[in-house]
Amino acid sequence: MNIIWNKTYGQFHLYNDSISYIIGTAPGGELTNLYFGKRIHAADDMSYVIFRMGMPNVAVDADTESYSMELNRQEYPSFGTTDFGTQAYEIEMSNGSRVSSFVYKSHTIFPGKKQINGLPATYAKDEEAMTLEVELCDEVAQASLVLSYTIFDRYPVIARHAVFTNRGNTRIKLTRAMSCCLDLPDQDYEWMQFTGAWARERIPETRKLGTGTTSIESKRGTSSANQNPFIIIKRPHTDDFAGEAIGFSFVYSGNFLAAAEGGTHGRLRILMGIHPDRFTWPLDKGDSFETPEVIIAATDKGLNDLSQTYHMLYNNHLVRGKWKNEPRPILNNNWEATFMDFTEEDILRIASKAKEAGVELFVLDDGWFGERNDDFAGLGDWVENPEKLPQGMSGLARKINAMGLKFGFWIEPEMVNPNSNLYRRHPDWVLATPGRKSSLGRHQLVLDFSRPEVVDHIYNMLFKVMSDAPISYIKWDMNRSLTEVFSMDASSEEQGTVYHRYVMGVYSLYSRLIEAFPDILFESCSSGGNRFDAGMLYYAPQAWCSDNTDAIDRIRIQYGSSYGYPIVSIGSHVSAVPNQQTGRSVSISTRANVAYFGTFGYELDLNELSDEEFAEVKDQIAFMKKYRDLIQFGRFYRLRSPFETDQAAWMVVSEDRSRAVVGFYCMRSNVNTLPGFLKLAGLDPDRQYSMEGEKYYGDELMNMGITLMRFYKEGFTISEDHASFVTVLEAV
Ligand code: DGJ
Repeated sequence: MNIIWNKTYGQFHLYNDSISYIIGTAPGGELTNLYFGKRIHAADDMSYVIFRMGMPNVAVDADTESYSMELNRQEYPSFGTTDFGTQAYEIEMSNGSRVSSFVYKSHTIFPGKKQINGLPATYAKDEEAMTLEVELCDEVAQASLVLSYTIFDRYPVIARHAVFTNRGNTRIKLTRAMSCCLDLPDQDYEWMQFTGAWARERIPETRKLGTGTTSIESKRGTSSANQNPFIIIKRPHTDDFAGEAIGFSFVYSGNFLAAAEGGTHGRLRILMGIHPDRFTWPLDKGDSFETPEVIIAATDKGLNDLSQTYHMLYNNHLVRGKWKNEPRPILNNNWEATFMDFTEEDILRIASKAKEAGVELFVLDDGWFGERNDDFAGLGDWVENPEKLPQGMSGLARKINAMGLKFGFWIEPEMVNPNSNLYRRHPDWVLATPGRKSSLGRHQLVLDFSRPEVVDHIYNMLFKVMSDAPISYIKWDMNRSLTEVFSMDASSEEQGTVYHRYVMGVYSLYSRLIEAFPDILFESCSSGGNRFDAGMLYYAPQAWCSDNTDAIDRIRIQYGSSYGYPIVSIGSHVSAVPNQQTGRSVSISTRANVAYFGTFGYELDLNELSDEEFAEVKDQIAFMKKYRDLIQFGRFYRLRSPFETDQAAWMVVSEDRSRAVVGFYCMRSNVNTLPGFLKLAGLDPDRQYSMEGEKYYGDELMNMGITLMRFYKEGFTISEDHASFVTVLEAV
């Protein structure tokens, strides 16, 4: 890994063993992209790739008369000079002008990586990464812009973000500030996005790119289940096993925009950042604005390789603290077992059975506080309900600890019900537009987390419950989108900052709680997977993946989530049947076979199971304890897509390729078909592996595949509806 500055030609080459990123200085002094892709030997002077010929009806720079930004690749373009594409940023000056142009002023190169104030970001030690910060300035706007690029040693990854500073005496307004722009020289790509809604999150959708703009966004205040802040652009033939692709993952949990714009001269521009709608950031003398970070990863070896890069990078350079690379406790959550209707006795009965099965952590979900007996009341009043918890959280936690289980509970700190003491006391603490009706979502309003005193108040209430009781885990939920966004504490000029300040408020509450309780495992949740993003993983290393716990639907949701997020971050539980969301009944074995590939736990009352099922649950827990290290931190391969066939398969392989666990699922039977073969991946071709008492060579398993006939048993074929198997391979 290195970053070379070629002073004579004004060029930077960032490279490691797998990628090169080359930046040049355009004739006007703006930064231009010269190359991004597989590692290359860069010539001394790469400016030969700059296009300098005239073309009809193209604007040409006034000084050089031969250079047009429109015909070249920009690092961080503006609109208003000679680039007519979508701009990366916009500044409104005091005279109303929005034209700006930042030119090279200086740069620094240093080992390691800096953090971003108040925002989540990847981190690295000095020997693990190098950073280039290029300072550019606009003399007319009297502003400076720092573009930051970090290259990681072990990963084909560039982390980018930008910082604007007002260097003059007059206020300027930032009305758009993307985190990155990457211009590529051709458009022969497909765009992949991860789309959905409540209970059907992160479903991959692919389309061909061409001229014009393809984009996804969230304007809900959360990153959203509707569009995940992660996209891939890939060559049309690229699949999980081969081909070029570039991923863009936004380390942020609020409104975002991701766009690919194909120009009519062949350039493809990718932009990602905070959504510019309802975003205005005033900058007075000396003020700065830092954008969140985008992680750009590249591969020429297919989408499994790209996903593995994100998995490893996020496990090693985003997740922090005690739970970094730690296998996750197997938990039992009471939500689908009781909803809000429970007594302490009910909880202890469920917990005691969980302990008997081998569960390690009990989680008390919604309903333990204030007047919270249904979803019309109580949010905001983070004090135990004495009828449900007669000896408080501390009493319950101690009883559960005495059984030999760890204990954790549910919170939804950003919300308030109009029917709550908090709202009655502080009606101005919510996001609401004066004179307008406030839309409710699940009968609740959103607290104005852009105000530090609101965050302080919630912190103090939570701190009290969390410090009184021995707590090991917190599930942090967030169950509605933001509407009528307006802060009653902000001036008219500041209203455009509220969405972002809200997210900063969420991050600051997370930071304070983590600082106070560094050993607690946080799981983020937002009506399931409405805020499953890289920003959250910095604080909460796992996320409740979806409220849809139906095993067959979960195959798709977990498969889709695996493109951008580590397996260990995917909250996955076995729940009761018929499933509460779909009405489908699937065997306890298939439910576990799906849930193993995530954090693993149970979302039901184990007392309700038959003796036979309960015995199976004990075996499942023993299996997960034995293999969770491998499953949660091994190399994950998608093998067969549930979006293309009626079957799905995936596997994880240990780093030394000596062990693997394979999961296979038949979602829908196809009568009178042959079982066929399942090709595995990632094994050592020359080693023999034992599987179900037989031995096979790695090359045999990867090229011919497992014969699925192997898994036929009497009365059971793997081609039946909802049949599945999980099998282990050990090198001999
Ligand atoms: C939505 C979550 O996704 C569920 O798991 C549960 O915690 C409920 N909220 C509780 O209200």
